[in-house]
Amino acid sequence: MTSSATVRDAGSGDLEAIVHLLNALLATTTYEYTEVPHTVEGRSLWFERQVERGFPVLVAEADGDVVGFASYGDFRDSITRAGFRYTVEHTVHVDERWWATGIATLLMEALVERARGSGVHVMIGAIDASNVGSLAFHERLGFVEVGRLPEAGRKFDRWCDLVLVQRSIGTDSVTPPC
Ligand SMILES: CC(C)(COP(=O)(O)OP(=O)(O)OC[C@H]1O[C@@H](n2cnc3c(N)ncnc32)[C@H](O)[C@@H]1OP(=O)(O)O)[C@@H](O)C(=O)NCCC(=O)NCCS
Repeated sequence: MTSSATVRDAGSGDLEAIVHLLNALLATTTYEYTEVPHTVEGRSLWFERQVERGFPVLVAEADGDVVGFASYGDFRDSITRAGFRYTVEHTVHVDERWWATGIATLLMEALVERARGSGVHVMIGAIDASNVGSLAFHERLGFVEVGRLPEAGRKFDRWCDLVLVQRSIGTDSVTPPC
């Protein structure tokens, strides 16, 4: 576990590092279902929307560099379907050189704290089935597999299975279920 990393809110000056983190495994893995690299321009629009919606974008810094980021947004469109407003879908990425040093854990702990502070009830991760490292990571953080969607994605001319993992972080679980 590292002791040197710190977590803070991202600024627009971090977008290049975030794009680099997002693109690092894009060409070699099916972890994200796109073959088109992310751009700073595209991420700038995303970042503006995140800020407008009050969704956090966090970065981890170590040795003066941004080495990871985490964020969340709507799971399904909660503007047109307000019933989804207590559920978010998150993402977390760490520079491979810093894997297994506890940085993603630091980021997720901070993200969960933010989510709780915003009244979020449920966090969901959508993970490609081949991404066994991320599945193990989420299990370790208390996420539980709640669904497997066979062939829900396609990349490199192959079908990809998507695994949904979920963690309830809300305190209000006493109201009657739908
Ligand atoms: C998944 C990912 C975020 C984990 O980041 P990390 O900083 O290495 O994670 P941590 O060091 O905080 O790991 C905490 C625990 O998770 C588990 N874990 C993390 N990576 C693992 C792996 N590859 N295999 C097995 N277990 C793993 C371990 O139990 C680990 O604890 P330990 O080191 O004490 O055994 C990182 O591998 C990554 O960025 N992957 C590519 C992007 C991605 O897949 N993101 C998730 C999509 S939502």
